[in-house]
Amino acid sequence: MNEIKLLVPDMPPAAALAPYLARVDAARWYTNFGPLVRELEERLGAHFAADDRVATLASGTAALELALQALGLPDGARVLLPDFTFVATATAVMRSGCRPVVADVDPQSWLLTPEIARRAIAERPVDAVMPVATFGCPQDAEAWDRFSGETGLPVVIDAAGAFGNQRAGRRAHVAFSLHATKALGAGEGGFVVSRDAALIERIRRLSNFGIDVSTGIVDRPGTNAKLSEYHAAVALAALERWPERAAARRAQWRTFLELMPEQCPSVTAQARPVGGAYTIAPVLLPAAVEPVAVIEALARAGVQSRRWYCPPLSHHPGFAAVERAGPREGVKAVSGRVLGVPFHLELTRADLGRVFGMLRRAIAGGTGGGAWRS
Ligand SMILES: Cc1ncc(COP(=O)(O)O)c(C=O)c1O
Repeated sequence: MNEIKLLVPDMPPAAALAPYLARVDAARWYTNFGPLVRELEERLGAHFAADDRVATLASGTAALELALQALGLPDGARVLLPDFTFVATATAVMRSGCRPVVADVDPQSWLLTPEIARRAIAERPVDAVMPVATFGCPQDAEAWDRFSGETGLPVVIDAAGAFGNQRAGRRAHVAFSLHATKALGAGEGGFVVSRDAALIERIRRLSNFGIDVSTGIVDRPGTNAKLSEYHAAVALAALERWPERAAARRAQWRTFLELMPEQCPSVTAQARPVGGAYTIAPVLLPAAVEPVAVIEALARAGVQSRRWYCPPLSHHPGFAAVERAGPREGVKAVSGRVLGVPFHLELTRADLGRVFGMLRRAIAGGTGGGAWRS
């Protein structure tokens, strides 16, 4: 029996990279803001509003970290983020010299919304907010613009996995990842989109040790987080085939939403736009089910699955010192019950049907105590 994989990265093949790599050879320019990086920033910019600007970086984590650093927050500034997120959101906050403060998420969308942030900051004031476009579900950029306008707080959206779904705001800056598991992948990489051209310039400088290349002077030390020309080559090749791959992802998500209620009605999906281009598709298990038993039963049936963001961020020993703001009812309702099930472009409709059939049986085994039969 063939195992059904949870996630299969969808990177451009070597042949599609060849013309870009030939350009790197010819120019003998391998990193430090070379022609491919500049072209990539322009071509990425075409996916956003006309006056949005783009700075590419070595990873999505670096994009978050340097976006925060470029805001010029004081050392130890508090940054609000959801407790239900990937650890890199908090890592970036801490590495930029700030302190994470975690808040709740909406139990349907699994997002830290402006409404939740308003309640959280009434309890514990913060200096900036980093909402997350969790599992590719876009944040409402206009609502965050209003929040930022009203509160005066800067907003950096962690949209690591939301390329194709997330817009930048007038005030809200957005950071993306180009990791191989994302919808648009370069292997490793990331970028920030912002309407603030000066902020984008500061991010670029920070990614090059903080050096002002016109004077050679460092006002504010940065790091080395430049995207190399080789990574830009992969990203450019990925962008070329983006429209076709994004359409395939949207179609796959529609099939998922069609088959899930038919085959396994006891689970629900994250409330996220039907027209999104997603790379992962977690479901919410019924509360009475033991997730580990479901994962093991699926594995015996040849279906890979895994939990995401379990435990929540503030329960990791490494983040034990983070502060909490407001109730965390949404996090409690969701965390621990989220199960990632196979979702990628190599899955046929029949494969997806099999996944949900197996999930239904695994859940029945996990709740009723009945013997699992594969
Ligand atoms: C929500 C979130 N934030 C940040 C990151 C970090 O991105 P990168 O792996 O490119 O550093 C990821 C990566 O998976 C992520 O899912």
